Amino acid sequence: MILEGKRVVLGITGGIAAYKAVDLASKLIQAGAIVDVIMTEAATRFVAPLTLQTLTHRPVSLDMFRLLEETDMTHIALSERADVIIVAPVTANTIAKLAHGLADNLLTATILATRAPVLLAPAMNADMYANPATQANVRTLKDRGFFIVGPAHGRLASGRVGWGRLVAVGQIIEAARQTLGREGPLVGVRVLVTAGGTQEPLDPVRHLGNRSSGRMGYALVAAARDSGADVRLVSAPTALSEPYGVEMVRVRTAEEMHREVKVAIPQTDILFMAAAVADYRPAWRATSKLKKGEAELKLSLTRTPDILESVAMERGTLGKPGLVVGFAAETDDLIKNAQEKLARKRLDLIVANDVTAPDSGFEVETNRVVLIKPDGAIDRWPLLDKAEVAERILKLVAEMWEEKHDEGNA
Ligand code: CTP
Repeated sequence: MILEGKRVVLGITGGIAAYKAVDLASKLIQAGAIVDVIMTEAATRFVAPLTLQTLTHRPVSLDMFRLLEETDMTHIALSERADVIIVAPVTANTIAKLAHGLADNLLTATILATRAPVLLAPAMNADMYANPATQANVRTLKDRGFFIVGPAHGRLASGRVGWGRLVAVGQIIEAARQTLGREGPLVGVRVLVTAGGTQEPLDPVRHLGNRSSGRMGYALVAAARDSGADVRLVSAPTALSEPYGVEMVRVRTAEEMHREVKVAIPQTDILFMAAAVADYRPAWRATSKLKKGEAELKLSLTRTPDILESVAMERGTLGKPGLVVGFAAETDDLIKNAQEKLARKRLDLIVANDVTAPDSGFEVETNRVVLIKPDGAIDRWPLLDKAEVAERILKLVAEMWEEKHDEGNA
């Protein structure tokens, strides 16, 4: 949602990765952004301006002087209107120009004149990137507050493998979202999110698990990051790709998750406990693969720690986290069970959903949740995309955080 209605200037410079900027432009448009493309002369050798114009439904700017003649815009207009400027791919040459304040084409002039945040996604030959001149220029730009994403390590156009590949388009989008959210309501707030379903090993090849896909937790991570928070994710196994711009720790079992949460709590302002944590683990773990036999196999299970209950105990002494949000996936008595968990785990908010509904719960993109607060307030939300549920939760929690601070300062 954060890209919706935002004015993005997309700069494209002359490298083979310029063809990927076409996909980036398309994804930005799909996310609701208004995209003005500026291409350098060299970029037009790799992709046709018409392609970008067709996708963005807006004129593509190429030449500073042609633009001045044909429209009433000056090169300053694009720089003033932009919410964010993204240059992808940015070549070593353009990086050098920007580091030295050159303004010899429409793109560099626009960037020199802007007060909007600038996000650069470098792509070049590995030796060019490793060159001390490029490295120094990149450092200079970082020190001046430019945001830089990548480059990635991988196969380059030359056939060699090294650092210099444009990062995935999805990552550029995530970096743009984080850049736009840098002044959001949770700036300076440290958020811890747990996500995914823990796995409790039975032997080296089997485990007891659950159906959590991790989608809700990862959506909360993205929404917290896009609200300006410093986010740490403790993730049980999922099939999802690592979110951009957050610190991530991977765990497998409930005990490992408990350990990581305990370590992080003293530095946590808000905890979202979205993980589906196993309540039991096999009492005994075989060191080699269990072989089948004729006899029935009985499993004996022992309890795992209840992470939220132990957080509630520590909160009393540490005063951290300031806010704790729990989740409840239920099949029966949704409200009653969620209320009981809210009280037992001393939560500030519980987000409950009925996982028997086909469109709400496991392995789907949507969720229908009920939010319950300790004062008894119950808020039922309609069926929404998980990303939207996460954004709404973050908005609500940011308000709760602000209220808490106002009370503290009163
Ligand atoms: N939770 C936790 N540690 C556990 C189990 C759950 O911290 N060992 C957290 C979950 O991350 C969630 C909340 O507690 O935020 C509720 O989880 P849920 O599994 O619904 O509750 P349980 O207390 O395990 O109750 P039950 O399984 O009996 O419904």
